[in-house]
Amino acid sequence: MRETHLGVENLIYPLFVVDGQNHKSEVKSLPGQFRLSLDHLLKEVEECMNLGVKCFDLFPAVDDALKDQMATYSYSDKNFYLRYIQEVKKRFPEAIIMTDVAMDPYSSDGHDGVVKDGKIVNDETLEVLAKMTVAQAQAGADIIGPSDMMDGRVEYIREALDDEGFTDVSIMSYTAKYASAFYGPFRDALDSAPKFGDKKTYQMDPANKREARVEAELDYIEGADYLMIKPALCYLDIIHMIKEEYPVPIAAYNVSGEYAMLKAAAQNGWIEYDRAMPEMLLSIRRAGADVILTYFAKEFAQMAKSGAL
Ligand code: PBG
Repeated sequence: MRETHLGVENLIYPLFVVDGQNHKSEVKSLPGQFRLSLDHLLKEVEECMNLGVKCFDLFPAVDDALKDQMATYSYSDKNFYLRYIQEVKKRFPEAIIMTDVAMDPYSSDGHDGVVKDGKIVNDETLEVLAKMTVAQAQAGADIIGPSDMMDGRVEYIREALDDEGFTDVSIMSYTAKYASAFYGPFRDALDSAPKFGDKKTYQMDPANKREARVEAELDYIEGADYLMIKPALCYLDIIHMIKEEYPVPIAAYNVSGEYAMLKAAAQNGWIEYDRAMPEMLLSIRRAGADVILTYFAKEFAQMAKSGAL
């Protein structure tokens, strides 16, 4: 009589990558999550694939010296991230690689868009995002994940992809991405916190629900293949609403702060982790997410395999 099913096939595993060799450093605020060099990344992907996790969302931790105002390293042919995508696809052609499109990992300002006179400017940013997108598709990305929240970027990068012949690279649009406090540990992982101000001029106000409809409508019309809601747990009502109204797959991002909270409580012995973790993921599925991006993906897969669920 169970109404909702949760399986490894519903999960996407976000992984942090760094340039170098034999490097694996734990992110302090994300126990159990690491910044990986290529050798470790390939090992990790292999282990996950054996557990049934097949889709990975890669995020680059970029050296400060390579960051600039226009995020030029993001599409440079020297970019290690692009090389890693190529290598993973070469070793594991059946792995599905999702990439991140936004300026913040490469921006000396720590913002997702171009900064001019202290403001984030929308239209100038689109061009940079398109260059980044095409470079990632050339490297072999299957799904492009624009996490920047600029207006009009889904159409802009869809056209850029099509013009270059990447008609079957899909777009998972960060549709309703809120200006949330729950991204803190992620910014630690990439050292990508904004150098000034906040992201409220492009990310959504946590108080707004109807506005998510506007964002969804735009992304849908512009050609998004999936609509994503982010974060997940404080926004289950948004997931539910968008699922009811749009006939495309719905994704939810169970973000770093949500992971960190549960891990911290578990480490203190304050919560029964093995039950709480699948319950969290199940609630996101029940709200309407077809797919969940989550740092719990590998552990969930291990639990599922061992029959603990
Ligand atoms: C930035 C980006 C963020 C996350 C994914 N892409 C953080 C932000 O908007 O500042 C957050 C993911 C997480 O917290 O797990 N483009």
